[in-house]
Order: sequence, then C-alpha cells, then structure tokens
Amino acid sequence: MCSSVQVEKALRNELNPTFNLQPSIFYYLFSFTMKKKTLFYILVFLTVLACTKRNALPPVVSNTDWKTKSIAPYPQQLNGDADSGFYYLKNGSYLGTGIPYRLVKKTVERNNERFVRRARLVSKHSYAVFETEQGCKVMNGTCFSCHSSKLNGELVLGLGNSLNHSQINLIIPSMVMDFGIRKIYRKDTATLASYDEFGKNFKHMARYIHTNNPVVNPAARIAEACMQYRNPDDLKYTPTPQYDMRKYNIASDIPALWHLQKKNALYYTGVGRGDFTKLLFQASVLGIKDSAAARKAQEKFVHVVAWIRSLQPPKYPQQIDSSLVSIGKTIYLNSCKHCHGTYDAPEQYPNRLVAIDEVGTDPLYASYAMDSKIVGWYNKSWFAKSSPHSWFEPEKGYVAPPLDGIWATAPYFHNGSVPTVYQVLNSKARPKKWKRPKNSQDYDWNKLGWKHKEKKLILDKWVYDTSLPGYGNQGHRYGDHLSEAQRLALIEYLKTL
Ligand code: HEC
Ligand code: HEC
Repeated sequence: MCSSVQVEKALRNELNPTFNLQPSIFYYLFSFTMKKKTLFYILVFLTVLACTKRNALPPVVSNTDWKTKSIAPYPQQLNGDADSGFYYLKNGSYLGTGIPYRLVKKTVERNNERFVRRARLVSKHSYAVFETEQGCKVMNGTCFSCHSSKLNGELVLGLGNSLNHSQINLIIPSMVMDFGIRKIYRKDTATLASYDEFGKNFKHMARYIHTNNPVVNPAARIAEACMQYRNPDDLKYTPTPQYDMRKYNIASDIPALWHLQKKNALYYTGVGRGDFTKLLFQASVLGIKDSAAARKAQEKFVHVVAWIRSLQPPKYPQQIDSSLVSIGKTIYLNSCKHCHGTYDAPEQYPNRLVAIDEVGTDPLYASYAMDSKIVGWYNKSWFAKSSPHSWFEPEKGYVAPPLDGIWATAPYFHNGSVPTVYQVLNSKARPKKWKRPKNSQDYDWNKLGWKHKEKKLILDKWVYDTSLPGYGNQGHRYGDHLSEAQRLALIEYLKTL
C-alpha cells in the first residue's frame, strides 16, 4: 500500500514533473476548504493513481561483484578532415527534414541576433538551414543547441549547454505546429515531404523532452523516443511503437565534447560502444527517412569525429598559484589518478568504469539505462548489424571522466547536481536545493564552478532540487578526507588541466 508520502512524491515528481509547488501546501489548503469525506475520496484516488504510476521508475540496480574495470578501445575511423566536419555540423543535412524555412525566413534574416535571443538559442550555430532531397530549404536544431554554451561571456563550442531548461511540456505546441504546417502546405507536396518525417517523430517525442529540474538535458529520452517508431532494419517510420518507454523523464548533464579524443566508450555510463561515427550520427536520427539516408549522413560523420577530436578545452583565464599547484598535484596522484588518469605527457587515461556501489553517486541514471528497451532495439538494428558496428552495453556504473578543462564544465556529476568542484571534493558542503544566476560571468573562481544560492522552497523553475529521483548529489567522497588547505591546493592543480 502506498503511504501518503509516496502520494506526495508521485504528485510532485511523476504525475506532473514541472509542478514545483510544495505538495504539503495543497494538503493544508484541501483540509481547510473541504469536507472530510471529500478529502478522503481525493486521497484514495491519488493513492490509487500514485500506485499505478509506481512503475514510472526503473528498479534501482546495485553491484558488489566488481568495483572498477577498464573499457577496451575499439578501432575508430580516424581519417576525417576536422574543417569539413565543423562545416557539416553547421550546414549539413544530417537531420534529413525540418521546419519549412519559408515560415521563419523573414524573422531569421531580418535580425539574426534578435531571433537567436528570442528563441533562447546559444548562438546562430544552434540551428541549421539546409536543402532536403526534394530541394526545399528547411531549418532544424544542430548539435550546438546542446553542445555549446557561454562561459565568462564567451561562446565555447563543445561545452555542454546547461543554461537551458526543458521544463515546458511540448505536447500541445507540437500538435499545433504539426497541424498548422500540414494545413498551410497541404497542396505543396515537396515542402510537406521535406517536413513530414520530422513532424511525425517530433509529435511522438514531445511528451518525453521536458524535465523536472533545470540545468539537465533529456537527450537519453530523446534517443529512446526517436527510435521508438522506427523499424530496426531499415529505420523507416512505423505507426506503432517498437517498445514501451517508462513514464519518468530522467535527464542528465551534458558532457564536454573535447573528452572524445580520450574515450573508448561514449556517455556517462559507457553504454555507447563501437564505431563513433554511428554513435554520433544517432543523435540526429529524428528527421531521417530511412537507413539509406542514414548511411549517406553517417559517412560524413568521419569528419565530425575528426573535428570533435581536435577540440581543446579552454584555458583557465585567471592567475594560478604555482607553489600550490605542486602540492595539489601530489594529492591528485595519490587520491585521484587511479580513476581519472594523468595529465603530464604522455597522458594516460584509464577509461575506468566505476561500479555504482563504489562511486555512490545517484544510481537512477545507470539503472534507467540497464532497464531501457532501446538497448534491445539498438542491438538488432541497422546501427549494430551493418558495418561499421556500434552497440549499446549498459553497465551498473559510471565512467570516471577525463578532467581536462574541468574548471569550465560546471555543474558536476552525470546529473549536474553539484555546482562547484569544491563541493565535489567536500560532500558535506553540497547544497540540497540551489539556484545559479543566468549570467555566464557569475563564475566562482575559487571554488571552480557556478556561483549559486541555497534555496529552501522550489517555487522557482530555476531551482535545482536534489531530492527528486535521479538527481541526488550523494557519493564520490574521495575528497572528504582532505583538509581544507589540501582541498584548495588540489583545486589549484585541477585549474591547470
Ligand atoms: C538535445 C541535446 C543534444 C543534442 C542535440 C546532441 N547532444 Fe550529444 N549529448 C547530449 C547529452 C545530454 C549527452 C550525455 C548523455 C549521456 O552521457 O548519457 C550527450 C553525449 C554526447 C557525446 C558523448 C560524450 C562523452 O563524453 O561520452 C558526444 C560525443 C556527443 N553527445 C556528440 C553529439 C553530436 C555530434 C551531436 C549532433 C549530431 C549531438 N551530440 C547532439 C545532448 C545532446
Ligand atoms: C574510484 C574511482 C574514483 C576516484 C578515486 C576519484 N574519482 Fe572522481 N569521479 C569518479 C566517477 C565514476 C565520476 C563520475 C560520477 C558521476 O557522474 O556520477 C567522478 C566524477 C568526478 C568529478 C566530476 C566530473 C564531471 O565532469 O562532472 C570530478 C571533478 C572528480 N571526479 C574529481 C576527482 C578528484 C579530484 C579525485 C581525487 C580526490 C577523484 N575524483 C577521485 C571516480 C573516481
């Protein structure tokens, strides 16, 4: 039987993830304004509803059979041209279809800066205008809508964009958009064909791409939703779903792209294995018609991989105290190197996967990947079956990421639950509910990360709440034993990476 605490949690977290009011406020309002009998029936109804929604969360996995293991390299295609890769990411047709450009052309061309600001895009790199196979111009988002961000006032390509929030439910806007576009262009078959694939899939996907916290990104759910209505063999649209998705909108932080050159597997859990061109192209499947179109685009991703591998992290822009750095480096070599690698030439990065029970950070994201039906779909699909091969291998753990440019990539951990490096290294100092200012210049140069305020209530959509399932800030206590002086010396060293 679910307790009323569970009802409250379900109300807040699952039934309406965007709803940030404290449920207890409602409890008191109800009890003052309603008769006891009505209140009783409401509570019974909510309890039943909460119980039926319980399977929204996947079973939480744990493991004691291994602590850490290294992920072996897979032979990659490294003959691409970085400049062509960058050009293709900004202008290429890897997204297949999109919104008819004619619809937005005037607004975009009249004042691009204003359009970017209004659409809350990071920069003009966040969207691409390209020609479809029908010869129509369409517009769609690019990798840079998620993989670029402002830091200290500057645009950094490859830095995760955690300044967005995806807490708006897009179900109704997506239906209105689809209805409108199909009506406007009902006699223009070429334009409709250039939009159709994107329109159908976006409508299915819309319900999955809002999150219940700011900062985090629903890309894992987007991937699940993108494949849900596709035949695994030829990637063609199917009117019935190929698998079920859980109700809970789990989300993650966005990793820095410059780590790719060191990685043997992709994603926080290391679930993405095999050929990187296939894995990276998968991020743009939303508007692609079939596996023939996918093949054309994926072949260009040899250049995309080359460009991403050429990325360097931004240099720390402030003064660094070199005497502290050498003290910090010794601490690093004793306490951290085993998992995060070394940074003096020749650099060595162990690609270490750390078991959930060992690292102790929130287990839900890894549990979700273990449970997700996309894994079975992917491993029998065009991605896995045709050459070059890529596949999904979920594990009960998180990869210890490279720490290059770590000063710039706040917030921290796979779920972005910790705003500064200092708090990564001092688990007691981590805020339970916090909010950062939106200006990218409000950076904390001492603690390395986002300046933030602790909050008690979560009436504000910009407050990150670590009590929601999947967003806990626990674990990784490898810096807890350090004295304050040692911690600051270690941070000084981390600034140099
Ligand atoms: C909607 C936002 C979004 C878009 C668009 C997007 N990504 Fe990502 N990307 C993410 C998130 C979130 C993750 C982390 C997911 C995880 O690790 O589970 C990620 C992970 C990655 C990784 C793995 C990095 C690592 O350290 O393991 C690479 C590489 C990558 N994306 C490249 C791309 C490319 C190339 C494109 C465009 C074709 C793209 N992404 C489009 C959000 C996005
Ligand atoms: C047993 C392995 C292990 C040790 C030892 C370890 N870490 Fe980690 N570290 C991890 C893992 C795994 C993660 C990812 C956790 C997650 O995302 O949930 C991580 C995450 C981090 C992050 C956040 C990275 C990001 O981009 O979000 C930082 C910073 C970090 N570690 C620094 C350190 C420092 C400094 C030390 C030494 C005091 C250290 N770690 C010791 C395994 C380890």
